[in-house]
Amino acid sequence: MNEEIKNLHNKILNYNGALYGSGKCVIFRSKDGDINPPIDLLVIGEAPGYYESISGVPFVGKAGKELDKILDFLGFNYVITNVVKYRPTDEKGQDRKPTPQEVESWLPLLEEQISAYKPKLILLLGDTALKAVLKLNMSITQASKSFKTFYHKKIPTFVYFHPSYLIRNNYDWKSDIEKLKDLMKKAI
Ligand code: URA
Repeated sequence: MNEEIKNLHNKILNYNGALYGSGKCVIFRSKDGDINPPIDLLVIGEAPGYYESISGVPFVGKAGKELDKILDFLGFNYVITNVVKYRPTDEKGQDRKPTPQEVESWLPLLEEQISAYKPKLILLLGDTALKAVLKLNMSITQASKSFKTFYHKKIPTFVYFHPSYLIRNNYDWKSDIEKLKDLMKKAI
């Protein structure tokens, strides 16, 4: 990990502008534990859940297990992060969706991560990441099923359902992910 990335991670840790969430600051997880730009694939989720907020690591709960299967299937070296870096909770301490204000306040730091990690490909998981990064007025279903290569700052960017949605709907993603893998291989 270079100095720029270490400094950026410290900046994220010390960022006080969006502390509506709870638990630990959750920044990244990578296939090999390190980040060496240019990375192959940056995966962007929504926000940490309970297990992530305890461990400080993204996608370690049930959704993370499903995501790992997808990433194994894709086969790229990856780094995973979220748009929002703290677990959003309601008055009862339950998970909630991040507010548009939270998303907006974290967006500049997410953009700094993208600049520092220099991904060759980006994969956006779910509606929050889709809307935050691509700012497209398209539903997650439309975007996921379009099998289209989008571009974010000239980086080939792909969109797919959030793993929690896949689990909830018992969704068989194999043939979708095969198509995505072909597109990604062409784009890298
Ligand atoms: N869901 C997300 O979007 N991110 C995580 O890190 C965990 C669950």
